[in-house]
Amino acid sequence: MTVTSLTPELTDPAAPGDGGSSVEGQAVADAVSDASLRRSQARSDEIEAQIAVDPRGFRMLTGDRPTGNLHLGHYIGTLSNRVRLQNLGVDTFVVIADYQVITDRDGVGEVQERVFSLLTDYMAVGLDPTRTTIFTHSAIPELNQLLLPFLAVVTDSELRRNPTVKAEMEATGNRPMSALMLTYPVHQAADILFCKGNLVPVGKDQLPHLEQARVIARRFDERFGRADRRRPVFPAPEALLSGGTNILGTDGQKMSKSRGNTIELGMSADETAKRLKRAVTDSDRHITYDPQNRPEVANLLLMAGLLSGRDPEMLAEEIGDGGGARLKAVVTEAVNEHLAPIRARRAELAADPGHLRAVLAEGNARARDVATATLDEVRAAMSMSYV
Ligand code: TRP
Repeated sequence: MTVTSLTPELTDPAAPGDGGSSVEGQAVADAVSDASLRRSQARSDEIEAQIAVDPRGFRMLTGDRPTGNLHLGHYIGTLSNRVRLQNLGVDTFVVIADYQVITDRDGVGEVQERVFSLLTDYMAVGLDPTRTTIFTHSAIPELNQLLLPFLAVVTDSELRRNPTVKAEMEATGNRPMSALMLTYPVHQAADILFCKGNLVPVGKDQLPHLEQARVIARRFDERFGRADRRRPVFPAPEALLSGGTNILGTDGQKMSKSRGNTIELGMSADETAKRLKRAVTDSDRHITYDPQNRPEVANLLLMAGLLSGRDPEMLAEEIGDGGGARLKAVVTEAVNEHLAPIRARRAELAADPGHLRAVLAEGNARARDVATATLDEVRAAMSMSYV
């Protein structure tokens, strides 16, 4: 499959990609201390080793909000890693977080269209719905019901201290924050715990969420747990900080739809070429790979390198005095060549909306079975089972 040509030796495990979709990711990432980051990284390395030996010992849960089309930043930073884990045999669940759309937006917009576009992107890059359960929040009432007991074990001040929630409060200025925004880390814990996920691939900006989910799992068992303490209802999920490389947009800023600096998976080869033609470089015609001093040029070289399986320094040497124009031509070719089979598959999938609907219905049914079983256990643990 196409993603395997994303050469692993070129991805830097110390620089997890955050997928670019979270709120104020950088501010949150900065709030995570170096020491705790080092601990999480060390633990992630151990988990990777364990996955290699026993992939079926893991159930992975991850997901995205259906708010925009997926782009190269997502692909290199997170999607290729999900596909890798799926292909290693890890039991994989992916939530299309449609209820998260209403945390920070007034309307839901074209949510239906976006959900199916996301599903199409997932399948085009190699998530296989026969092995990976892809589902939407809104179709799983039993998942959402977990929110109630979970809300009972967290305090409002602890939620207000959550770095992502805090960043959101600051970003929205005087605009009142919805209670759903305040509680969304708890909802996200339900996403992970409903399927007893024990593995969550994350960027460092999402670490505080994972910590919240671990706390909720532990407190649930302390408060409502079964008599047999050795069998907690919820396992403590662990973060896997081994995403791909964080690449920037064509202007050297964080890749994000609102900046118009993305290369979307679904763009045509021509649109890609046009966008890359406008990419920011610098005035030095001699191309070198120097991430520190020439971040925009280095980013383009890295992009080309990752997608063609070549070393960005070698690419720079080959381009030499060819300048920005030659560099852009090289990047365009690498991107378009790598994405060609993904785009062809994407077009095929998009041409059959009936099939997409069937895939999502099947994923939702599977997720719902799992959620129903978990909620039954939760009711029993809470002594609220009346059947
Ligand atoms: N908040 C994540 C994002 O913005 C999406 C998401 C929802 C998620 N539920 C999750 C990620 C559970 C990991 C685990 O992309």
